[in-house]
Amino acid sequence: MVEFLRSGVKLGAELLVLPELCNTGYKFESADELERLAEEIPNGETTEELINFAEDACISVIAGVCERDGNRYFNSAVLVGPEGFIARYRKAHLFDEENIWFSKGDTPFQVYETSGVKVGIMICFDWFFPEVIRILALKGAQIICHPANLILPYCQTALLGAAVQNRVFIITANRVGFERGIEFTGMSQIVNPMMEVIARSGRSEEEVKVVDIEPSLADSKRITRYNDLWSDRRVDLYHPILERSCEAQK
Ligand code: ACM
Repeated sequence: MVEFLRSGVKLGAELLVLPELCNTGYKFESADELERLAEEIPNGETTEELINFAEDACISVIAGVCERDGNRYFNSAVLVGPEGFIARYRKAHLFDEENIWFSKGDTPFQVYETSGVKVGIMICFDWFFPEVIRILALKGAQIICHPANLILPYCQTALLGAAVQNRVFIITANRVGFERGIEFTGMSQIVNPMMEVIARSGRSEEEVKVVDIEPSLADSKRITRYNDLWSDRRVDLYHPILERSCEAQK
Protein backbone atom coordinates (compact mmCIF):
# COMPACT_ATOMS: atom_id res chain seq x y z
CA MET A 1 0.00 0.00 0.00
CA VAL A 2 2.80 2.42 0.88
CA GLU A 3 4.23 2.12 -2.66
CA PHE A 4 0.86 3.17 -4.03
CA LEU A 5 0.56 6.02 -1.54
CA ARG A 6 4.02 7.28 -2.44
CA SER A 7 3.03 7.65 -6.09
CA GLY A 8 0.66 10.47 -5.02
CA VAL A 9 3.28 12.10 -2.83
CA LYS A 10 5.85 12.11 -5.63
CA LEU A 11 3.37 14.19 -7.59
CA GLY A 12 3.23 16.71 -4.76
CA ALA A 13 -0.18 15.98 -3.23
CA GLU A 14 -1.09 17.36 0.21
CA LEU A 15 -4.38 15.49 0.57
CA LEU A 16 -4.95 11.96 -0.67
CA VAL A 17 -8.27 10.09 -0.79
CA LEU A 18 -8.35 6.29 -1.13
CA PRO A 19 -11.36 4.01 -1.78
CA GLU A 20 -13.78 2.42 0.69
CA LEU A 21 -12.64 -0.73 2.56
CA CYS A 22 -9.19 -0.42 1.01
CA ASN A 23 -7.62 -2.80 3.53
CA THR A 24 -9.96 -5.73 2.85
CA GLY A 25 -11.91 -5.54 -0.39
CA TYR A 26 -15.66 -5.05 -0.51
CA LYS A 27 -17.49 -8.38 -0.65
CA PHE A 28 -17.37 -10.66 2.37
CA GLU A 29 -18.42 -14.28 2.27
CA SER A 30 -18.47 -15.23 5.93
CA ALA A 31 -18.38 -13.78 9.40
CA ASP A 32 -15.03 -15.59 9.88
CA GLU A 33 -13.57 -13.73 6.95
CA LEU A 34 -14.79 -10.39 8.26
CA GLU A 35 -13.46 -11.14 11.74
CA ARG A 36 -10.07 -12.14 10.36
CA LEU A 37 -9.68 -9.05 8.17
CA ALA A 38 -11.19 -6.24 10.26
CA GLU A 39 -8.88 -4.08 12.35
CA GLU A 40 -9.11 -1.80 15.30
CA ILE A 41 -8.91 1.95 14.74
CA PRO A 42 -6.53 3.62 15.47
CA ASN A 43 -4.48 0.68 16.77
CA GLY A 44 -4.80 -1.64 13.76
CA GLU A 45 -2.06 -2.35 11.24
CA THR A 46 -3.57 -0.36 8.36
CA THR A 47 -4.25 2.80 10.37
CA GLU A 48 -0.81 2.62 11.97
CA GLU A 49 0.78 2.28 8.55
CA LEU A 50 -1.24 5.23 7.27
CA ILE A 51 -0.27 7.34 10.29
CA ASN A 52 3.44 6.62 9.74
CA PHE A 53 3.12 7.35 6.07
CA ALA A 54 1.26 10.65 6.64
CA GLU A 55 3.80 11.81 9.20
CA ASP A 56 6.80 10.91 6.99
CA ALA A 57 5.32 12.35 3.82
CA CYS A 58 3.68 15.34 5.49
CA ILE A 59 0.36 14.58 3.83
CA SER A 60 -3.25 14.07 4.95
CA VAL A 61 -4.92 10.81 3.95
CA ILE A 62 -8.55 9.67 4.05
CA ALA A 63 -8.94 5.93 3.53
CA GLY A 64 -11.73 3.40 3.92
CA VAL A 65 -10.90 0.81 6.60
CA CYS A 66 -12.88 -2.21 7.78
CA GLU A 67 -13.15 -1.65 11.53
CA ARG A 68 -13.58 -4.05 14.43
CA ASP A 69 -14.78 -2.61 17.74
CA GLY A 70 -15.36 -5.45 20.22
CA ASN A 71 -17.89 -7.67 18.53
CA ARG A 72 -19.18 -4.95 16.21
CA TYR A 73 -17.91 -4.19 12.72
CA PHE A 74 -18.08 -0.88 10.90
CA ASN A 75 -17.44 0.23 7.34
CA SER A 76 -15.24 3.14 8.40
CA ALA A 77 -12.83 5.73 7.09
CA VAL A 78 -9.84 7.20 8.86
CA LEU A 79 -8.39 10.65 8.54
CA VAL A 80 -4.69 10.90 9.35
CA GLY A 81 -2.34 13.79 8.77
CA PRO A 82 1.16 15.06 9.47
CA GLU A 83 -0.08 15.53 13.06
CA GLY A 84 -1.01 11.81 13.37
CA PHE A 85 -4.43 10.22 13.77
CA ILE A 86 -7.23 12.79 13.48
CA ALA A 87 -10.57 11.02 13.21
CA ARG A 88 -12.62 8.01 12.23
CA TYR A 89 -15.98 8.15 10.47
CA ARG A 90 -18.34 5.14 10.42
CA LYS A 91 -20.57 4.81 7.34
CA ALA A 92 -24.11 5.82 8.26
CA HIS A 93 -26.03 4.44 5.27
CA LEU A 94 -25.19 0.81 4.57
CA PHE A 95 -25.71 -0.49 1.03
CA ASP A 96 -27.36 -3.83 0.26
CA GLU A 97 -25.47 -6.82 1.81
CA GLU A 98 -23.32 -4.52 3.92
CA ASN A 99 -26.35 -4.69 6.22
CA ILE A 100 -25.48 -8.34 6.91
CA TRP A 101 -21.96 -7.61 8.08
CA PHE A 102 -21.76 -4.13 9.49
CA SER A 103 -23.41 -2.06 12.20
CA LYS A 104 -24.82 1.28 11.09
CA GLY A 105 -22.41 4.11 11.78
CA ASP A 106 -22.74 6.04 15.01
CA THR A 107 -20.28 8.88 14.40
CA PRO A 108 -21.50 12.42 13.63
CA PHE A 109 -20.97 14.17 10.29
CA GLN A 110 -18.03 16.26 11.34
CA VAL A 111 -15.58 18.68 9.74
CA TYR A 112 -11.84 18.55 10.45
CA GLU A 113 -9.02 20.92 9.61
CA THR A 114 -5.88 19.30 8.19
CA SER A 115 -3.14 20.44 5.79
CA GLY A 116 -4.80 23.87 5.79
CA VAL A 117 -8.22 22.69 4.53
CA LYS A 118 -11.55 21.85 6.12
CA VAL A 119 -12.62 18.35 5.16
CA GLY A 120 -15.74 16.30 5.72
CA ILE A 121 -16.03 12.56 5.13
CA MET A 122 -18.78 10.39 3.67
CA ILE A 123 -18.49 6.79 2.45
CA CYS A 124 -19.92 5.54 -0.83
CA PHE A 125 -23.74 5.08 -0.54
CA ASP A 126 -23.89 7.95 1.97
CA TRP A 127 -23.94 10.18 -1.13
CA PHE A 128 -27.50 9.01 -1.86
CA PHE A 129 -28.69 10.96 1.20
CA PRO A 130 -28.32 14.68 0.43
CA GLU A 131 -28.50 15.48 4.13
CA VAL A 132 -24.93 14.22 4.57
CA ILE A 133 -23.25 16.65 2.18
CA ARG A 134 -25.57 19.43 3.32
CA ILE A 135 -24.67 18.98 6.98
CA LEU A 136 -20.95 18.82 6.19
CA ALA A 137 -21.20 21.94 4.02
CA LEU A 138 -23.19 23.78 6.69
CA LYS A 139 -20.46 22.87 9.18
CA GLY A 140 -17.91 24.56 6.94
CA ALA A 141 -16.42 21.72 4.89
CA GLN A 142 -14.53 22.96 1.86
CA ILE A 143 -13.82 19.47 0.53
CA ILE A 144 -16.05 16.42 0.93
CA CYS A 145 -13.83 13.33 0.78
CA HIS A 146 -15.67 10.29 -0.50
CA PRO A 147 -14.02 6.86 -0.36
CA ALA A 148 -16.19 4.59 -2.50
CA ASN A 149 -16.76 1.15 -4.00
CA LEU A 150 -19.58 2.30 -6.28
CA ILE A 151 -21.79 -0.23 -8.03
CA LEU A 152 -24.86 1.77 -9.15
CA PRO A 153 -24.36 4.03 -12.18
CA TYR A 154 -25.67 7.35 -10.81
CA CYS A 155 -23.15 8.80 -8.41
CA GLN A 156 -20.50 10.42 -10.58
CA THR A 157 -23.11 12.49 -12.44
CA ALA A 158 -25.31 13.18 -9.42
CA LEU A 159 -22.41 14.60 -7.41
CA LEU A 160 -21.96 17.40 -9.94
CA GLY A 161 -25.31 18.70 -8.70
CA ALA A 162 -24.39 18.15 -5.08
CA ALA A 163 -21.15 20.12 -5.52
CA VAL A 164 -22.91 23.19 -6.93
CA GLN A 165 -25.91 22.94 -4.60
CA ASN A 166 -23.56 23.06 -1.63
CA ARG A 167 -20.69 25.00 -3.22
CA VAL A 168 -18.06 22.49 -2.13
CA PHE A 169 -15.35 20.37 -3.71
CA ILE A 170 -16.15 16.65 -3.76
CA ILE A 171 -13.41 14.06 -4.20
CA THR A 172 -14.72 10.57 -4.98
CA ALA A 173 -12.07 7.82 -4.88
CA ASN A 174 -13.74 4.79 -6.40
CA ARG A 175 -12.69 1.24 -7.10
CA VAL A 176 -12.20 -0.31 -10.53
CA GLY A 177 -12.56 -3.91 -11.70
CA PHE A 178 -14.44 -6.93 -10.35
CA GLU A 179 -14.61 -8.71 -7.03
CA ARG A 180 -16.59 -11.91 -6.46
CA GLY A 181 -19.07 -11.08 -9.22
CA ILE A 182 -19.45 -7.37 -8.46
CA GLU A 183 -18.25 -4.74 -10.94
CA PHE A 184 -17.18 -1.34 -9.64
CA THR A 185 -17.77 1.74 -11.77
CA GLY A 186 -14.35 3.45 -11.53
CA MET A 187 -14.33 7.02 -12.82
CA SER A 188 -13.00 8.53 -9.64
CA GLN A 189 -13.40 12.27 -9.85
CA ILE A 190 -12.79 15.66 -8.35
CA VAL A 191 -15.60 18.19 -8.81
CA ASN A 192 -15.32 21.87 -7.94
CA PRO A 193 -18.03 24.14 -6.43
CA MET A 194 -19.04 25.27 -9.95
CA MET A 195 -19.82 21.62 -10.81
CA GLU A 196 -16.83 21.31 -13.12
CA VAL A 197 -15.08 17.95 -13.23
CA ILE A 198 -11.45 18.95 -12.71
CA ALA A 199 -10.11 15.39 -12.69
CA ARG A 200 -11.63 12.09 -13.69
CA SER A 201 -10.12 8.62 -14.00
CA GLY A 202 -11.07 5.92 -16.45
CA ARG A 203 -13.52 3.11 -15.85
CA SER A 204 -11.17 0.20 -15.47
CA GLU A 205 -7.53 1.18 -14.81
CA GLU A 206 -6.05 2.14 -11.43
CA GLU A 207 -4.85 5.76 -11.59
CA VAL A 208 -3.56 8.52 -9.33
CA LYS A 209 -4.71 12.02 -10.29
CA VAL A 210 -3.39 15.19 -8.70
CA VAL A 211 -4.89 18.65 -9.16
CA ASP A 212 -4.24 22.05 -7.64
CA ILE A 213 -7.30 23.62 -6.10
CA GLU A 214 -8.14 26.79 -4.20
CA PRO A 215 -10.17 25.44 -1.24
CA SER A 216 -11.41 28.91 -0.26
CA LEU A 217 -13.61 28.91 -3.40
CA ALA A 218 -15.94 26.78 -1.30
CA ASP A 219 -16.28 29.50 1.34
CA SER A 220 -18.37 31.82 -0.81
CA LYS A 221 -22.01 30.77 -0.90
CA ARG A 222 -23.10 33.75 -2.96
CA ILE A 223 -25.08 32.80 -6.07
CA THR A 224 -26.26 36.19 -7.38
CA ARG A 225 -26.26 39.71 -5.96
CA TYR A 226 -29.55 38.84 -4.23
CA ASN A 227 -28.98 35.17 -3.44
CA ASP A 228 -26.85 33.51 -0.83
CA LEU A 229 -27.04 29.75 -0.46
CA TRP A 230 -27.14 29.83 3.32
CA SER A 231 -29.17 32.92 4.14
CA ASP A 232 -31.80 32.07 1.47
CA ARG A 233 -32.56 28.72 3.09
CA ARG A 234 -36.17 28.44 4.27
CA VAL A 235 -35.58 26.42 7.40
CA ASP A 236 -39.05 27.47 8.58
CA LEU A 237 -40.44 25.23 5.79
CA TYR A 238 -37.96 22.37 6.03
CA HIS A 239 -39.07 20.63 9.23
CA PRO A 240 -40.65 17.61 7.43
CA ILE A 241 -37.20 16.31 6.55
CA LEU A 242 -36.67 15.63 10.22
CA GLU A 243 -39.68 13.28 10.33
CA ARG A 244 -39.11 9.56 9.79
CA SER A 245 -42.24 8.55 7.87
CA CYS A 246 -43.27 9.74 4.39
CA GLU A 247 -46.79 10.28 5.75
CA ALA A 248 -45.46 13.06 7.95
CA GLN A 249 -44.15 14.85 4.88
CA LYS A 250 -47.52 15.32 3.18
C1 ACM B 1 -21.54 1.16 -1.70
O1 ACM B 1 -22.04 1.88 -0.84
N1 ACM B 1 -20.35 0.63 -1.56
C2 ACM B 1 -22.26 0.90 -2.94
